Amino acid sequence: MSRIPLPYNPKVMDLFRNPKNLGKMEDATVVAVAGNPACGDMITFYLKIDEVKQVIEKATFESYGCAANIATSSIVTELIKGLTLEVAWKDITWKKVTEEIGGLPSVKFHCGVLAVGALKRAIRQYFSQKGLENPSWLPKEHTFEEKQALEEEELANTLSKRLKPEAEKK
Ligand code: FES
Repeated sequence: MSRIPLPYNPKVMDLFRNPKNLGKMEDATVVAVAGNPACGDMITFYLKIDEVKQVIEKATFESYGCAANIATSSIVTELIKGLTLEVAWKDITWKKVTEEIGGLPSVKFHCGVLAVGALKRAIRQYFSQKGLENPSWLPKEHTFEEKQALEEEELANTLSKRLKPEAEKK
C-alpha cells in the first residue's frame, strides 16, 4: 500500500477547524487588510491596543486564505496578546510562527508570511493613522513580511500586471 504523507500536521488541522480569535472586532484600534501576491488570498487583522502602555490587548482576524493561513493567523493572535507593540514587532517572525505550529509544507510558507505581514502592517498603520512619530524600533523600510503582504490596492495592481501579458497574448 502506498503511503501519501498528509500535507498538514495535526496542530495545523486543529487550528484550521477550531481557529482562535476568528472574526471581526468592532472596537479595534487598528485594522489592516493584506493580500499575498503569490496566491491572491486576503486577510484582515484587527488589533485592540492599550494606547498608554502600547500593549496589544486583543487581536482577531478574518481570513479568506487556506488552512495554513487560518492556522498561522490564529496562532499569531494568541502569541501577541499582552505583548507591547515593540516586542510583537521584533519577536513575531514567520519562522517563529511556522515553528510554533509544528512546521508547514514548504509550498505553504507564504501563508504564514501573510499572517505575520498583516500583523506588521497593522502595527505600522497604527503609528501613521494616529499621526505618531515612528518609534526607533520601527524600520523605515518595509520588512520582508510586509512586502509579501500587500495592501488591497497594491495587491490588485500586482495581480492585474501579472494577468496583462497573458491577456495580451490572446
Ligand atoms: Fe493563499 Fe495559503 S495559499 S494563504
